[in-house]
Amino acid sequence: MTRKILVLPGDGIGPEITAQASRVLAACQAQGLDVEVEEAPVGGAAYDAEGSPLPESTLARARAADAVLLGAVGGPKWDKLEDISKRPEKGLLGLRKELGLFGNLRPALLYPQLAEASSLKPELVAGLDIMIVRELTGGIYFGQPRGIEERDGQRVGYNTYVYSEAEIERIGRMAFEMAQKRGKKLCSVDKANVLEVTMLWREVMERLAPEYPDVELSHMYVDNAAMQLVRAPKQFDVVVTGNMFGDILSDAAAMLTGSIGMLPSASLNESGQGMYEPCHGSAPDIAGQGLANPLATILSVAMMLRYSLGEPALAERIEAAVGKVLDEGLRTADIAAEGERAVSTTEMGDAVLAAFEAL
Ligand code: NAI
Ligand code: MG
Repeated sequence: MTRKILVLPGDGIGPEITAQASRVLAACQAQGLDVEVEEAPVGGAAYDAEGSPLPESTLARARAADAVLLGAVGGPKWDKLEDISKRPEKGLLGLRKELGLFGNLRPALLYPQLAEASSLKPELVAGLDIMIVRELTGGIYFGQPRGIEERDGQRVGYNTYVYSEAEIERIGRMAFEMAQKRGKKLCSVDKANVLEVTMLWREVMERLAPEYPDVELSHMYVDNAAMQLVRAPKQFDVVVTGNMFGDILSDAAAMLTGSIGMLPSASLNESGQGMYEPCHGSAPDIAGQGLANPLATILSVAMMLRYSLGEPALAERIEAAVGKVLDEGLRTADIAAEGERAVSTTEMGDAVLAAFEAL
């Protein structure tokens, strides 16, 4: 059965990096991958063309796709838009919500070739390979009631941190299954000493644990997890946590690798449909100059093959090709050492394709 992939280039460097990722997808098609690839506008580009950051036709095509590959959205051009519902970021949030993408996978993998780029000592991060599983559609970012109002003569702001047992269970299962496929260690991060919602979180994780006897479950308070991530990050394999803690911890973990241009991500729903995107933004400071690192987006294609299309061998082949170009010393400007020659976005794409073909 031919599967459908929707590519959403978006804004800033989005079109440049998705162009390289699309070439890699085409190379997979040449290897027999049976997919149909389409493109549609999203973000500021869609607002400019159609007056909405998530046009109906884009949403309909995303719903019909098995997987979506997104570049990035946003930029200074749209920051002054008064109507917040028209901002490019709403395109991304709308997709997450409409597709029910509750599980966000954020790997923090340090390529040995780039160990120098980490903010930590090489011995602390050599071989670092963490997978953060963040709940993406619930928690304090979405809880009701919320607002700013006047109480007893002064304004108060409030949000509600809420998770149902069912929401905790489905992200928990995703994380346990991930741990089974990796190093068999799962650390659940909460604040169960203070917050009732995370007491329930901890209880549900404990209840699931016997169903995954090969996985070793541990719990950590979020403040300690932040410390441990910078003190001894290699103790972690899979980390599961709620929306807000996951937002913060995954950015911290990303920085341990030192290269935002290298980090892919996946967001999945219950039927395995997913949206795949680099962790970085639209980088308006370098857009249109051929300087962007396309590897995070290319590695997002690998995640797509693994998690939505059931093609682990092709995923591994892409990852191996990326490793090979790094071995060969190819570097875009963001990962090049001082004085080292940097290649362009397209040259990096060329090299990955050549390595992919040669494997
Ligand atoms: P950013 O990630 O776009 O850029 C941060 C820094 O990293 C910049 O110096 C940029 O040049 C560099 N960088 C990022 N990706 C790179 C790549 N592939 N190759 C080489 N260098 C790279 O974050 P920033 O500057 O905070 O946000 C810029 C815009 O992107 C904003 O409008 C923001 O709202 C949007 N954004 C969009 C996201 C998304 O679409 N998922 C996520 C984060 C930000
Ligand atoms: Mg964040």
